[in-house]
Amino acid sequence: MDIVAQPVVQVQNLRKFFRVGFWGRRVTAVDGVSLEVQQGEVFGFLGPNGAGKTTTIKMLMGLIYPSGGTATLFGKSIGDPAAKAKAGFLPESPYFYDYLTSREFLRFYGHLFGLMGSTLEKRIDELLELVGMTHARDLQLRKFSKGMLQRVGIAQALINDPELVILDEPMSGLDPIGRKEVRDLILRLKESGKTVMFSSHILHDAELLCDRVAMIMKGRLVTCGHVSELIAGDTTHEVEMVIDRLLPEALERIKPLASKVVLQGERVMAVLTRQQDVDQTLDVIRSAKAKLVALTPHKTSLEDLFIRKANGAQSAVEARVA
Ligand SMILES: Nc1ncnc2c1ncn2[C@@H]1O[C@H](COP(=O)(O)OP(=O)(O)OP(=O)(O)O)[C@@H](O)[C@H]1O
Ligand SMILES: [Mg+2]
Repeated sequence: MDIVAQPVVQVQNLRKFFRVGFWGRRVTAVDGVSLEVQQGEVFGFLGPNGAGKTTTIKMLMGLIYPSGGTATLFGKSIGDPAAKAKAGFLPESPYFYDYLTSREFLRFYGHLFGLMGSTLEKRIDELLELVGMTHARDLQLRKFSKGMLQRVGIAQALINDPELVILDEPMSGLDPIGRKEVRDLILRLKESGKTVMFSSHILHDAELLCDRVAMIMKGRLVTCGHVSELIAGDTTHEVEMVIDRLLPEALERIKPLASKVVLQGERVMAVLTRQQDVDQTLDVIRSAKAKLVALTPHKTSLEDLFIRKANGAQSAVEARVA
């Protein structure tokens, strides 16, 4: 008998709309999202500004009610205290009591989870160490930089030693070093067996970190899957060639083979998508005694995929409107 592990997060056809303005105009923030996050994986929830990431996460954390659909954490319906006790959460714009020191701040959150005394103090020390903030343990939060606040915010999300950590934009506002530190931290959480779901519009971070990603745009999922599979399924096999000393007659033979040709003085840059066109272009270069300066295959990145999906989503919306 196969034992199928229960997803840690399961979302089915989740919807949320808001009423805005005097006339109560309906704004759809989340429009039928379904996804699952499996135990032990790092799951990236990606999308541009206003896509519906925070709204979905707030519904998962029981902070706002869905307008439709269902969601469970550890198989229990959202809002169930038993499920919430196993989850840690970093909000997008955390409100910090900025006159507290990091220790006092973490103590406050520890008390909310019923932690006390030496157990709590030991946990605080461990967490400050984990996020590299031991040196600032007695400093008031109002004296913190954005990166320091983000790190202490992540420590807060871990105070109850959660099995699932949900982080809304954990890298936002951080410089490249800060982002690398948060990435390392997320990988350490994964190594220690935790499940991590985080939202981001920084695709590079997601590419480096995630086992699987979901992309959401205008409230709808546009794709979901393993990063490597998504990228492999979308490979364009583009090759960029840079050629010097190409005579006009040879250039005319290359133009119909290339999807794009750019002239920069004596230099020609050509983009080719089919292998036979690459071979033919190389033949032309050889026979014309031109010089091949560079040949660069373009690997599809999550960013390329994202832009293509965004354009696709936009065309679909336009088609619906038309
Ligand atoms: N309380 C609210 N009242 C009205 N509209 C809202 C509310 N919260 C969110 N929205 C709208 O829902 C949509 C999705 O917002 P959401 O904050 O979920 O996006 P996001 O993907 O988290 O974006 P960002 O990357 O900017 O954080 C937006 O159009 C936003 O204006
Ligand atoms: Mg957001």
